[in-house]
Amino acid sequence: MTPKFTNPRAKNNFQGRTCSITGVGSYVPEKILTNADLEKMVETTDEWITTRTGIKERHIAAANEFTSDLATNAAKQAMAMAGVNAEQIDLIIVATITPDMPFPNTACLVQRKLGAKRAAAFDIEAACSGFIFALEIGQQFVMSGTHETVLVIGAEKLSSITNWKDRNTCVLFGDGAGAAILQHRPGSQGLLTVTMGSDGNKADLLSMPGGGSACPATPESVAEGMHFLRMDGKETFKNAVQAMCGAAQEVLRRCEIDVTAIKCVIPHQANQRIVDAVSDRLKATPEQMFVNLHKYGNTSAASVAIALDEAVREGKIQRGDLVLLVVFGAGLTWGAAVIEW
Ligand code: UT7
Repeated sequence: MTPKFTNPRAKNNFQGRTCSITGVGSYVPEKILTNADLEKMVETTDEWITTRTGIKERHIAAANEFTSDLATNAAKQAMAMAGVNAEQIDLIIVATITPDMPFPNTACLVQRKLGAKRAAAFDIEAACSGFIFALEIGQQFVMSGTHETVLVIGAEKLSSITNWKDRNTCVLFGDGAGAAILQHRPGSQGLLTVTMGSDGNKADLLSMPGGGSACPATPESVAEGMHFLRMDGKETFKNAVQAMCGAAQEVLRRCEIDVTAIKCVIPHQANQRIVDAVSDRLKATPEQMFVNLHKYGNTSAASVAIALDEAVREGKIQRGDLVLLVVFGAGLTWGAAVIEW
């Protein structure tokens, strides 16, 4: 039988190894902040937020609930689905822009909370693109055979870097985490291809300038709001549509398929208008597009990870289906992946 798609990785496989996602999980904090709640905090309306973004509500972590807690809860679900215990995990990669603290890394804190004693653990930072970047890193270890079980997590407590007085940004973001277990699953192709891209020339479009070596925390930097996220929304929007479409087309081309071969497209959940523009340009149908941003807002690195988990649990993705993930974030960074589920 002629294969339905090309696996661009096949020629590089080490002894025929592949990398599949064998379990997914997600977690969002209990507290919900609705658009009506935001109307009481800044000069905005449910109508503006809904028509400009599609977001209706978002989840906000408690004061004593940190990114590592959200990540750990998501990881436990992914481990249960994959049938993996903490001792089996060889590597933990956490993608986040809101680590519990600058160091130690959040992955080590997750390792402690899970009791994953054998695992090496590190963070990566590629903003909203982080989960795909982490998948690509994790799958290299599985494909090469150096590691059997890799836990990849996208987790954010964006509420901790949100300026709740800035209506341009505070209505957009939410907290949450999504996780995946990566393993070689004989007979399954898994992650077929991943593309990643970056453009540091546009670093200023979306950033948090304070808290690093360029601008350590001082009373002045805090007073100036340097430790809050800031964004040029319009420019970010334009770049997002362009980069996401380019990345998606690249991975489809590599697999020698068109979008009709894809069962489920999971785009970064930043704005319904971005999702619609990407969907239009790719010529994907509304049924193919998975959207949950109305419930969670933009959860950055957690966004596609949470959406993937929900799509699987809702039965929208079955074994053997092709899934397209596509992301965009600060950096700028972007990426896309095709997965045989
Ligand atoms: O995750 C990384 C990627 N992030 C993104 O992709 C986000 C990309 N950007 C966006 O989603 C959109 O640009 C926004 C939702 C942030 C803004 O939508 P927009 O259509 O680009 O609106 P705008 O920036 O042109 O603002 C229009 C108006 C402005 O008023 P004036 O200057 O026209 O009088 C804003 O001050 O809307 C005003 N505005 C608001 N009004 C009510 C901005 N925020 C609000 C608000 N409520 N929350």
